[in-house]
Amino acid sequence: MRLAVYGKGGTGKTTLSACILQFLNYFGDFRVLGIDGDHNLHLAQELGATESDLQRGNLGTALDIGNDLEWLRGYFAGTNPFITADLPIIKTTPPGKGSRLLQFSDPAEWRERYVTFIDGVELIRVGDFTENDYRKKCFHSKTGSIEIFLKHVWESSNEAIVVDMSAGKDVFASPLPSLFDGNLYVVKPTRKSVSNAVDFLCHAHKFGVDMLLVATDVCSNEEVNAIESCLGRKVDAVIPHDEFFVKRDRILLSRPNHVREASFQILDALYSLTELLQQLPAHNWDKILTKMIYHHEETANDWAGTKFNAQIQPGFNPFEHFQKIPVSSLS
Ligand SMILES: Nc1ncnc2c1ncn2[C@@H]1O[C@H](COP(=O)(O)OP(=O)(O)O)[C@@H](O)[C@H]1O
Ligand SMILES: [Mg+2]
Repeated sequence: MRLAVYGKGGTGKTTLSACILQFLNYFGDFRVLGIDGDHNLHLAQELGATESDLQRGNLGTALDIGNDLEWLRGYFAGTNPFITADLPIIKTTPPGKGSRLLQFSDPAEWRERYVTFIDGVELIRVGDFTENDYRKKCFHSKTGSIEIFLKHVWESSNEAIVVDMSAGKDVFASPLPSLFDGNLYVVKPTRKSVSNAVDFLCHAHKFGVDMLLVATDVCSNEEVNAIESCLGRKVDAVIPHDEFFVKRDRILLSRPNHVREASFQILDALYSLTELLQQLPAHNWDKILTKMIYHHEETANDWAGTKFNAQIQPGFNPFEHFQKIPVSSLS
């Protein structure tokens, strides 16, 4: 299962991403990977990372994938002859023959380079702007690293990848949402959050992206009704307002780092949400492949240069590799 969490800044994306990761890992026995796709980089903190987690023993602090694009491109290109110095992997490049296609749980070099392990959760970060980026790059160039990663590393049914996205509508300038089984939009019962949700969901609809709506920081059923009436649709899951989250954020309060310390009402809400997520249809490989090729063609024809169309290998199905793995070895 692969999920992305969207929402206005300050609505609870990072809080929810961390809770889903910890809940699936601790109560659902899932192997989980969080991807901090925001430049605010709060997911490690939200997961309760200690200095020693971040230092990773002899390995030292992890690299950020968005600031390590050259290595990332070369690594996943593998021996694919259609990826060359002249035609490097761009974010929409579909995998081809020779590309490095990995099961999430495979021991692999990317893990040593990028992963920080925090109490059962593996975490990678896209990273913040660096000195070299000022006045030159927008954040898209970094979130492209998530697209490259998610096209080459595939999880199986007892594994979950959750991406804590940056706020805003930028994501619609990329095909990223089509790579997830579930796209979750987080909304709080505040005027600004709801008005952002109206706007975002309208764009999602136009782009053909189904969004699950999660209302959080909710104090009453009336608030849920008000959100539903403003948005003209049902809320799919509700996370109540709770002291657990207040304690996790206020600097003078002692911090519960793991969701196992949450109140019964929060555990109950997360149980319902994760039940819903587990009922999402499994990857439709054909649909994903069709969309990958479509988006790459559009990118090549619109702005990257038509020569990038040469990276598409007709008839090559990257997912046959995973479909051939017997189900018993996936669980
Ligand atoms: N269900 C909730 N109950 C109480 N506070 C919440 C709840 N969900 C989120 N919050 C608070 O909202 C604030 C913003 O959350 P955060 O996850 O950092 O937002 P984002 O990542 O969208 O910017 C934090 O102070 C967090 O504790
Ligand atoms: Mg955040």
